[in-house]
Amino acid sequence: MRYTLFLLASAALALAVPQGNSKRASSFVWFGASESCAEFGNQNIPGVLGTDYTWPDTSAIQTLRNAGMNIFRVPFLMERLVPNTLTSTPNEIYLQGLKSTVEFITSTGAYAIVDPHNYGRYYGNIITSTSDFAAFWTTVATEFASNDKVIFDTNNEFNTEDQTVVLNLNQAAINAIRAAGATSQYIFVEGNSWSGAWTWTSVNSNLVNLTDPQNKIVYEMHQYLDSDGSGTSDTCVSTTIGQERVQSATEWLQSNGKLGFLGEFAGGANSVCQSAVTGMLSYMQENSDVWLGASWWAAGPWWSTYIFSMEPPSGTAYTYYLNLLSAYFPSNSGSSGGSTTTSTTTTRSTSSSTTTATTTTKSTTKSTTSTGSTATATVSHWAQCGGVGWTGATACASPYTCQVQNAYYSQCL
Ligand SMILES: *[C@@H]1O[C@H](CO)[C@@H](O)[C@H](O)[C@H]1NC(C)=O
Repeated sequence: MRYTLFLLASAALALAVPQGNSKRASSFVWFGASESCAEFGNQNIPGVLGTDYTWPDTSAIQTLRNAGMNIFRVPFLMERLVPNTLTSTPNEIYLQGLKSTVEFITSTGAYAIVDPHNYGRYYGNIITSTSDFAAFWTTVATEFASNDKVIFDTNNEFNTEDQTVVLNLNQAAINAIRAAGATSQYIFVEGNSWSGAWTWTSVNSNLVNLTDPQNKIVYEMHQYLDSDGSGTSDTCVSTTIGQERVQSATEWLQSNGKLGFLGEFAGGANSVCQSAVTGMLSYMQENSDVWLGASWWAAGPWWSTYIFSMEPPSGTAYTYYLNLLSAYFPSNSGSSGGSTTTSTTTTRSTSSSTTTATTTTKSTTKSTTSTGSTATATVSHWAQCGGVGWTGATACASPYTCQVQNAYYSQCL
């Protein structure tokens, strides 16, 4: 999702065989959600844990895991992890928060995507130094080098910057990760123009030249289905817009023998978006020789009434979409075509009926919208109170105040 306005204002999967030659059966390898909120409050750096940002709720992750999701993307802020320069040592407390979240996810047998959610920027400035970026990735990869269920996501949504810089930063990250001894993990590379699938072929074609000695590059693209593709509206352009927007990228992956992952997507809780989302996923699944899966934007404990919230037990998307999405979750049957990709699905939880049991143990710190909030036109603790496109109430119930999390999301804290 685009946070550009705010940022400007403020500081190949392990195929043993050559890629593209052996079609796997029609099943994704991964399906999951971003587990957001450690990147919240990016106007407050470093910010206060529990006030400006929070780590994902492990019991909520477990609920999604039990439902069959097997990959979770964990956004965090580079400025909080390495507060001084990209080459500095990490802040131990924030690092421990990241590590415990990642280790919880991988201990369930799922994959964890480590996502520096920085739009190719550090303190608001476009990152151009490949050596600084490499140093950052050496730091991160060293921490996770022994965990083969960790996936490194080079950076969230490069945008509005030089295309050669994007290429060189991605290559520097790959080289640094491998040199740090993290040789078994997948690396998700992202592109310019918010890594959009719909513009991939016109913007990011030079990324075809990225190389990895381990041959485990996956191209992470994002795609929203609202008119400007920004993911800020719950209105989708049409029932067919999903497939339409990923089609040229699919052909690019196929003609270049590359693999892709849809790292962010979402749709509003309505029938047009439902058709658009399921149409896109069905098309991708038919092309799962190149599409390894997808992850919804977003789960996380502070999303509250957000239009795309995948947070159990009452997130808008969780209640509307989970069952629809589950049709695309990786199957248990090991139905893939005998390539090494089968191993990624074998540890998936077979439980699909424990959702209610686990949600009851979820942290009680997350309140739901109070029943009186609409009548009094005030917004309850945690709920959305502003942001681009927001038409609801903007006044918070006492004693809370409406605080900007990013250009598109303000909430009562
Ligand atoms: C990939 O690299 C080769 C060799 O440098 C170059 O000729 C080609 O134009 C590059 N491809 C793209 C799409 O940029």
